[in-house]
Amino acid sequence: MKKLAILAALAAVAAGCCTASRDFGVTKYGEKAKLYTLRGKGGLVMEVTDAGGKVVRLLQPDKSGELKDITIGFDDVSGWENTDPYFGAIIGRVGNRIAQGKFTLEGKEYAIECNDTDHHAALHGGPRGWDAYVWDAEPFTDGDDVGISFSKIFPDGEGGFPGKVGAKVTYTITPDNVWRISYWAKTDKTTPINLTQHVYFNMNGEGDILDQELMIDADKYLAVDADLAPVGEPELVVGTPFDFRTFHKVGERINDPDRVLQYGPGYDHNWCLNGEGFRKVAEFRGEKRAVEVWTDQPGLQFYAGNFINPEWTMKGGRKMVYRGWLALETQHYPNTPNRPDFGSIYVKPGETYSTVTEYRFKAL
Ligand code: BGC
Repeated sequence: MKKLAILAALAAVAAGCCTASRDFGVTKYGEKAKLYTLRGKGGLVMEVTDAGGKVVRLLQPDKSGELKDITIGFDDVSGWENTDPYFGAIIGRVGNRIAQGKFTLEGKEYAIECNDTDHHAALHGGPRGWDAYVWDAEPFTDGDDVGISFSKIFPDGEGGFPGKVGAKVTYTITPDNVWRISYWAKTDKTTPINLTQHVYFNMNGEGDILDQELMIDADKYLAVDADLAPVGEPELVVGTPFDFRTFHKVGERINDPDRVLQYGPGYDHNWCLNGEGFRKVAEFRGEKRAVEVWTDQPGLQFYAGNFINPEWTMKGGRKMVYRGWLALETQHYPNTPNRPDFGSIYVKPGETYSTVTEYRFKAL
C-alpha cells in the first residue's frame, strides 16, 4: 500500500500535479485555509491558498532556469489580515471603487459599506469581499496543463449586493509559463459583477520596482478625484506621466507634480485599454524576467504599491518594500454602476459572466 502511495505521489509530481501541501491557518471569520502547490511543466511554480484564491508564491525561471519569487505573500492567512487583504487575491463581487458605495438598479438604491479613502467608496466588494472567503478548491491536471479551480456560492445580499451568485475562477498554468485566469459567474437577480486578480509583481524579485519597465497599450486613462473615483470622460495620455504606450521605467515620472497622479499618491489609476477582444494590453519587465498581460477586458488598474508599508513583514520574515511590487488588475472601469457612459457590469439571470486574463511569463 505504502509503495503504491509513493508511486502515485511520484507520478503526480512527474505530471506536474498539485496537492494540498499544508494547512494555511484559520481566517478571522473562522474558516480553515489550505495551501496548494502548482508546478508547471515550463518551470513556473505557484503556491496558492483556497482563502480568496490568493497567490502566495510565484517562482519564475530565468533563461538559466533559476527561480525567483516575484510576488508578495505570507506564511499563513493572518498575514493578509494584519496588512492589506488583497495581495494576490480574487477580487469581487465588484473590483475597484463604487463611489460613496451607492448605486441605483431597477429603481432601487443599494448601499455597500464604504471601506476606502475616509469611507468615501466601497473598494473591492466592500469590507468583506470575495478575497475574504475560503473557496472550494479543486486542483487538476489536464494534458500538459496544471491548475486549480475555485468555486463558491455567495448568498443574495452578500456584501449588500442583490442576487445569489455562483462563481468559479480557474487558474491554469501551461507548459509555456502562461497563467490563465478564467472567471465565470451566474446570478438569480440582476447584479453588478466586475472580477479581477490582485497579484503583485516585482520582476527582479527584490528591491523596488522603480527601475523596472512598463508598457500599457492605452491612449486614454481615467482622471480621478481625491477619493480616487473617476471624474469626467477618459483623457488622452499623450503629454502626461500616464503615457506608457512605449516602455517607461515605473519611477521615471511617478513623483511628477501632476495633481491627478499625486492623488494616488503615485500610479493608482485605470487605463482605458486600446482594442477589443482578447489581446496583449501590457508588459512589465525586469532584468531577466518579464510578464505580458493579455485580457478581454476594457480596463487596467495599475497600482504601484504606494500604500505598501516597509514595516510590514511577509513570508520568511522578510520586510516589505515601499513600491516594491505593482499590480496590473484587468477589469471593467471603476464606478461603472454610476457611470452608464462606461457601459454596464450588470449581469442578469440567465446570463453568464465570463472573462479571461493571462499573465504570460518569459525569460529575457
Ligand atoms: C487600489 C488601491 C488599493 C489597493 C489595495 C488597488 O486596486 O486601487 O488604491 O490600495 O488595491 O490593495
